[in-house]
Amino acid sequence: MKVQGVPMRSIWVESDGWSVGVIDQTRLPHAFVKVTLSTADEAGHAIRSMLVRGAPLIGATAAYGVCLAMRQDASDGALEQALTMLRATRPTAVNLHWALDGMRQVLAPLKPSERVAAAYRQAAALCDEDVAINRAIGEHALKLFQEAWDKKGRKGRLNVLTHCNAGWLATVDWGTALAPMYLAHDAGLPLHVWVDETRPRNQGAVLTAWELGQHGVPHTVIADNVGGHLMQHGEVDLCIVGTDRTTARGDVANKIGTYLKALAAKDNGVPFYVALPSPTIDWTIQDGVKEIPIEQRDGAELSDVTGRLPSGDIATVRITPPGSPAANYAFDVTPARLVTALITERGVCPATEEGMLSLFPERRAQRSAAK
Ligand code: MRU
Repeated sequence: MKVQGVPMRSIWVESDGWSVGVIDQTRLPHAFVKVTLSTADEAGHAIRSMLVRGAPLIGATAAYGVCLAMRQDASDGALEQALTMLRATRPTAVNLHWALDGMRQVLAPLKPSERVAAAYRQAAALCDEDVAINRAIGEHALKLFQEAWDKKGRKGRLNVLTHCNAGWLATVDWGTALAPMYLAHDAGLPLHVWVDETRPRNQGAVLTAWELGQHGVPHTVIADNVGGHLMQHGEVDLCIVGTDRTTARGDVANKIGTYLKALAAKDNGVPFYVALPSPTIDWTIQDGVKEIPIEQRDGAELSDVTGRLPSGDIATVRITPPGSPAANYAFDVTPARLVTALITERGVCPATEEGMLSLFPERRAQRSAAK
């Protein structure tokens, strides 16, 4: 992706060869600020405070957090301590565990003196894998976009609705749900994206709108309640969202409000697709509503809103009455029955266990053993 025309990723190793650069996503879209992480604690804080966010980027940042921990102390105890601290940063996105399990598998058998170099190699490989996965998801989803455009008789514009930010800011590059948007736009499809604002943290209004704008993709920000109305009036040709954890039978956890969009899509016969990188699949669980841990965050994210004043200053203001409690559920689960199809790096499949196993047959033994 390009920021002001300059190609970059959302996480990188700085020119000193060890510290880790990220974009402070809490400052967008008003300021583009890069931050350098020098310790595992700083990496943990960046994830917890949502300076970086999005399931794949959370995993990548945690992997580099382990690298930074190993630089300070590469003993067995320090490795376990870093893994435990980073694992506890955010509960819903399973990519965090995937990344940390991968780091542990590579580092634990090594001598401490070998761990720093191996950690950086593994974190870099994980980032490259994320980019390749997302690009492949984009290509598979692009075919669905083209089919929808043909079905529409190639008239007007192709209206796609998305929720939250599943773009390059949520990944190392490309994004998952947004990858096909960039490819479709570049291929000349007259794409228009309805961007759900995504309260309470406004990842749609703040991040998705910003990155679509950087790439020149036509888009319109809408309040979270608008999608159903637009679908009733034929203004949405398809929905596509990302996911933080998808179960073995295709139930999908994603940013709070995704479920309501899927319900509205079902009621209106609008295809509802989920872009699903394989590290986001939790093969150990089935029932997403019962088994996926849903993060609850500070109520201040709901009661307070940050924005730019006419003076140009950035200010945070309270919108709720003093004393009104706020409950801030960060994710919800969309049952597989509401998902038209899952789009993975290996292709498109029905949101069923059999559909997923048809693309990932190496998981059949694990699933049979679980039954
Ligand atoms: O709380 P966030 O901003 O980390 O939530 C992000 C999402 O819900 C994304 O849709 C999801 O991580 C998929 S990103 C490719």
